[in-house]
Amino acid sequence: MALKRPKGTFDLLPPGSPGLEKHNAMNRHQLVLEQVRETLERAGAKFIQTPLFEALELVKRGVGETTDVVQKEMYSVSHRGSDEGFVLRPEGTAPIVRAYLENGLKQFPAPLKLWTYGPMFRAERQQEGRYRQFHQVDYEVLGSDDPLTDAEAIVLMWQVLERVGLKNLEMKVSSLGDPPDREAYSTYLREVFAPHLERLSPLSLSRLERNPLRILDSKEAQDIALIAQLSPKSLLESLGESAKVHLDRVCAYLTAWGVTYALDPGIVRGLDYYRRTAWEVHHTGVGAKAALGGGGRYDGLAELLGGPPTPGVGWALGVERILIALEAEAVPAPALVGPLLYLGALEEGLLENVTGLALELRRSASCEFGYRAKKPGKHLEDAVKKGAVFLGLIGPDEADTGTLSLKNLERGEGWVLPRAELPEYLRNYLSSH
Ligand code: HAM
Repeated sequence: MALKRPKGTFDLLPPGSPGLEKHNAMNRHQLVLEQVRETLERAGAKFIQTPLFEALELVKRGVGETTDVVQKEMYSVSHRGSDEGFVLRPEGTAPIVRAYLENGLKQFPAPLKLWTYGPMFRAERQQEGRYRQFHQVDYEVLGSDDPLTDAEAIVLMWQVLERVGLKNLEMKVSSLGDPPDREAYSTYLREVFAPHLERLSPLSLSRLERNPLRILDSKEAQDIALIAQLSPKSLLESLGESAKVHLDRVCAYLTAWGVTYALDPGIVRGLDYYRRTAWEVHHTGVGAKAALGGGGRYDGLAELLGGPPTPGVGWALGVERILIALEAEAVPAPALVGPLLYLGALEEGLLENVTGLALELRRSASCEFGYRAKKPGKHLEDAVKKGAVFLGLIGPDEADTGTLSLKNLERGEGWVLPRAELPEYLRNYLSSH
């Protein structure tokens, strides 16, 4: 039997491939990436890339031992003769903070804006919008706890999504408080659940002591029912003064810039490093509970990783989920781009002539050629299939006179052109189209 790709993964495919689904069109993926790059780099973000695998310890400490990501979704990487633990990275924030600390990036004027893009790995149950290898774009700002950096991060995420063409978006903002707020809230939650321990799922019960907030994010039906019945007050309602003032400033900026958002106490986030501002963007076309992206402030993360106190805030968007949302809104995919010129030989002996010309033209324009000599009508069919703008043919007459028969396939006009004039002709065409 032919071999298959691992479960939960997919191939990114060129347009027109039979295996295309909503989330794996390479042309759409690349266009989104280009739009993201332009939006973030105009705001001063610098591109960074970290390894695809990292120390297990980094992910445990950064993302948090009690999270689903660490407890259930990690891919371990081993190599012979080493007992060091490595994992495929499940997210980009802890690696970027590690890279910032390790490479002395603190020397750049603060705040430093970084962005990255690439595959992330989580062993989740496969369903639409949830894969085991997926792609994130990730924006991180290090070195400032100014609420303006939070607000700018949120508005950039919003602008990215608008730029790619999405409309049915919901921005949900909350605050997870400062550590003392969270500690007090955890104590409150333990008290609320204490009389009902037998009704909690085993997973939630195991989290009650170390991270009761995670219980509020449980997907287990029995936990969801218990939470609905007890309706504990939210962390957002229990913020201390400084976290509250910080959130108010973030919201004031968003309002001033005309960003539509809603305060939502239900935003818990699946990773442990957050404090203060946290947010998610949801889309009606991507299943319930599945966000297009999320982010927040993580001022304590650098210290958890062994570095000096370094405030930070950032977000990540799932590229596949953006593609699913674009399909749901019927945003047109970029057109298939064919070569500017398709060259064909009318006799086998002229193939060197044709291919030599093609290689030269490729210095300034896209040019493909037919691999066999064919009749003009057959070359025309091939050029049209490729989506070429021009067809150029070389037969014995053209070979003798140093010319080529050129046809503009959009207009249907044809003429004979000296080959020496071709590069300039194509350059002029490109600059006027
Ligand atoms: P996250 O919420 O875990 O945050 O992931 C961000 C986005 O990645 C999700 O909203 C979703 O679009 C996409 N995503 C996550 N898991 C999957 C999956 N299994 N399949 C497809 N897409 C997925 C983070 O990763 C944080 N590092 C974000 C952040 C950056 N916070 C601060 N800075």
